Amino acid sequence: MVGTFDIAINKIAKSRVEEYDVNNVPFGKCFSDHMLVAEYKDGKWAPPQIIPYGDMPLSYAMSALHYGQAIFEGMKAYKNAAGVVSLFRPHENFKRLNRSALRMAMPEVPEEIFIGGLIELMRLDSAWVPTSETGSLYIRPFLIATDEAIGVRASDTYKFVIITCPAGNYYNEPIKVLVEQDYFRAVKGGVGFVKAAGNYGRSLFPTRMAQAKGYQQVIWTDSETHQYVEESGTMNLMFVIDNTVITPALSDTILSGITRDSVLTLARAWNLKVEERKISITEILEAHKNGTLQEAFGCGTAATIAQITSIGYKDADYTLPAVETRQFSTKVDAYLRQIRKGQVEDTFKWMISV
Ligand SMILES: Cc1ncc(COP(=O)(O)O)c(C=O)c1O
Repeated sequence: MVGTFDIAINKIAKSRVEEYDVNNVPFGKCFSDHMLVAEYKDGKWAPPQIIPYGDMPLSYAMSALHYGQAIFEGMKAYKNAAGVVSLFRPHENFKRLNRSALRMAMPEVPEEIFIGGLIELMRLDSAWVPTSETGSLYIRPFLIATDEAIGVRASDTYKFVIITCPAGNYYNEPIKVLVEQDYFRAVKGGVGFVKAAGNYGRSLFPTRMAQAKGYQQVIWTDSETHQYVEESGTMNLMFVIDNTVITPALSDTILSGITRDSVLTLARAWNLKVEERKISITEILEAHKNGTLQEAFGCGTAATIAQITSIGYKDADYTLPAVETRQFSTKVDAYLRQIRKGQVEDTFKWMISV
């Protein structure tokens, strides 16, 4: 029983986990035994079910496919040395999913389904959580509109699903980034602050163009002037300039990253000066020129910390200080790993064990 919902569990006849080395599978292609599915219709949620991972029968007229009512989350579970599985700040993902739902005119998912269902799912599939030092189980909750209907309007029916897949180290190689000057990710009054599927579809072409020029990611800038940095790929951006940690202030064009919040919380706890404000590319290049730009990195669930080694702007590349000299981000990276693996005290109560 999950709160007021009975959760029906239909267990797989034989686990597939033995077929894989979960510490070494390619990311995003191998899915754990079970998934959680909950359906919304007639204005209410039906009790969630946990069933074997499999395909979804869908109509070619399904409204998510045509009108983009599709939102998702990305989060991780970790296993400590004693084999205990814990989730990192799952209530933040739960709240963010519901902020996305509101903006996309979709129904909010009850906590008993998201958190209660996720905990049940993790208990069932704990064998899929990697034990390696940097391994984790990536969790993908998503909500999609399922009306079989053509016509632009909010759907009456929805499916909330959670699938999971083992993850090793996911692009936390140092990256070269290009400051985007033609395209933008988000616009004032738009949906950049939520995890709407369309935000990601629209980013692929500019990213492909940057990759063709030898960069791994773009730095998204504001849509009006292309002067102020916003995010990089699917990460929030952080800079350390003259011993101050600076990150773009949250707005409706920036996703409120849970890693971002964790990094800022640690910076403040360690008595560093923190500024959440607009930051222009001119300011960054000026700091690079006068030697005060100490660190630049992206942060997000996938990579935790992705060090930026060089920034491309217009026709020049600016090389940043060596990663080994970056005290703040390397300390944050190590500390977050230790918290997640239960190797240091969880002072902030970020881990929820299942
Ligand atoms: C656009 C965007 N920005 C930032 C982030 C980082 O957010 P979080 O730290 O919650 O993973 C993500 C990933 O979810 C993202 O997709």
